[in-house]
Amino acid sequence: MHIIVAASQKGGSGKTTVVRSLAVAAQQSYGRTVILDLDPQGSLTSWWNRREAPEPALVKFAIAELPERASQLEAAGIEYLFVDTPPSIHPEILDVMRQATMIVVPVRPSPDDLDAVGDTLAMIEEAGRPFAFVLTQAKPRTRLQLSAVQALAQHGKLAPTIIHDRTDFPTAAVTGKTVTEAEGETASAKEVKDVLAYVITQVRKQVREG
Ligand SMILES: Nc1ncnc2c1ncn2[C@@H]1O[C@H](COP(=O)(O)OP(=O)(O)OP(=O)(O)O)[C@@H](O)[C@H]1O
Ligand SMILES: [Mg+2]
Repeated sequence: MHIIVAASQKGGSGKTTVVRSLAVAAQQSYGRTVILDLDPQGSLTSWWNRREAPEPALVKFAIAELPERASQLEAAGIEYLFVDTPPSIHPEILDVMRQATMIVVPVRPSPDDLDAVGDTLAMIEEAGRPFAFVLTQAKPRTRLQLSAVQALAQHGKLAPTIIHDRTDFPTAAVTGKTVTEAEGETASAKEVKDVLAYVITQVRKQVREG
């Protein structure tokens, strides 16, 4: 089973939105996907509670139980576990990051957010797991976006697709959905699918390379 953890110490960077969007897209494409909310704010749980569709299922357990529960989920045939975390440097979060197949770090293209990336990178380094940045909430065609791409690329891998700032993300969340569940092929849905394809390629590569 692949454990994909969204982490960033910067509040509001897009962790919860990225987790639910990628998890729903993974469920749509591959099935066998579950989500775990480790943030005491419970945003992912609240979103899931507003949701009609039962999948991806929300699993609930404490961080200390992750190794045992992950084995159980794997034995039950689950292939992808997407984990949402709080904007925190708590040692427990480091523990979760250590168990990740891959860590996804959403970053907004602003100087304040880029400044804060160093703290998250320090944790990732300590966790010693592969990671990739995902640029999110980017305003289309801005200079900020370009400089963020350049800055992040210096620090590590960056998902080649940028997730833009669009109202359909929060609008879909009102009814516990995500952008890939909306009618038609929207630009937001395409971005989410592209980022998922990148993440899946990275985790599968990870497995091959051991
Ligand atoms: N691509 C997007 N377009 C528009 N709005 C977005 C997008 N991504 C996130 N948002 C909005 O930005 C806000 C913060 O996003 P989100 O809750 O996903 O961040 P977070 O990193 O989980 O925050 P926290 O650190 O508090 O857990 C939310 O109101 C969300 O609806
Ligand atoms: Mg959140």
